[in-house]
Amino acid sequence: MESKISKIGVFTSGGDAPGMNAALRAVVRAAIYYKKDIYGIMQGYEGMIDGDIVKLGARSVGNIIQRGGTILKSARSQEFRTKEGREKAFINLKKHGIEALVAIGGDGTFTGLHKLHEEYGIPAVCIPGTIDNDIAGTDFTVGFDTATNTAVEAIDKIRDTAISHNRLFFIEVMGRNSGYIAINCGIAGGAVATIIPEESMTLDELFAKLDEGGKTNKKSSLVVVAEGSKLGGAMELAKKFSERNNYFDIKVTILGHLQRGGTPTYFDRVLASKMGVAAVEGLLKGEKDVMVGILNNKIVYNDFDTIMKHHHEIDSESLRISKILSI
Ligand code: F6P
Repeated sequence: MESKISKIGVFTSGGDAPGMNAALRAVVRAAIYYKKDIYGIMQGYEGMIDGDIVKLGARSVGNIIQRGGTILKSARSQEFRTKEGREKAFINLKKHGIEALVAIGGDGTFTGLHKLHEEYGIPAVCIPGTIDNDIAGTDFTVGFDTATNTAVEAIDKIRDTAISHNRLFFIEVMGRNSGYIAINCGIAGGAVATIIPEESMTLDELFAKLDEGGKTNKKSSLVVVAEGSKLGGAMELAKKFSERNNYFDIKVTILGHLQRGGTPTYFDRVLASKMGVAAVEGLLKGEKDVMVGILNNKIVYNDFDTIMKHHHEIDSESLRISKILSI
């Protein structure tokens, strides 16, 4: 593939997500396939600012496709938000002769990359890597499938205890501003109610539903709550409901970071591999300030505005199904 670019830098940034290593492997190997030099930038934008940059080869990314986390490490850099921080970062990129970048991360990562491109003109492609699946311009982000499977597995285990002890569990799953993980866990885990930031029942509606369960002799129940719920987190909801409930034994489980780790599913590995290759090919074809996505099974390159101005809406069918089934 004809391109003036000969040295590409790659890094992971923001919250780690299972499949980031698979994406990294694909970026490195695609770059080598097209006879380009590829450099790994450690610890996201922090490593760019500190000059922690290493040359990678095909073997540097051997045996990582199945590993969770990110071998390049990750960070949420405050310094990169400043003009001075970005200047230091750009000087280091120049020192290594890096002419183009691939970032694997979420919307914060993409925003940083966009700024760097605006200020210094460096061509950059982002791969959406976050468990939240909250980014427009792609059906799925790398890590979402694994995180959701991990959460559903945990919910199934909690259900065993809920049934054995006649308990009502409020289970909190991750998703800062997005209910993607929650709605899918709610459907797959058979929750009686799912509380998401995008569209939630009121407190009265939730409690009426739980009361109904109590009255109709429902012995155990699971409520899935997205971390970003506007009604309150699992702790808060459990506390409020326990003030009026006199039939359920109430417990709370916050799944937290266990959803972020672990072996990526086949789906995340393939998604990451396709996006990694597409990111390098995009750069070589002249893409400059975009995020690669897969929509309806087709690779797309989304510009910054498309991504930032739109929220990744939860599909109405999932919301509808969730309502029909949680009775
Ligand atoms: O963006 C991914 C995510 O796991 C969110 O779901 C969560 O709110 C956040 O990261 C937690 O971030 P940290 O690990 O920095 O506390």
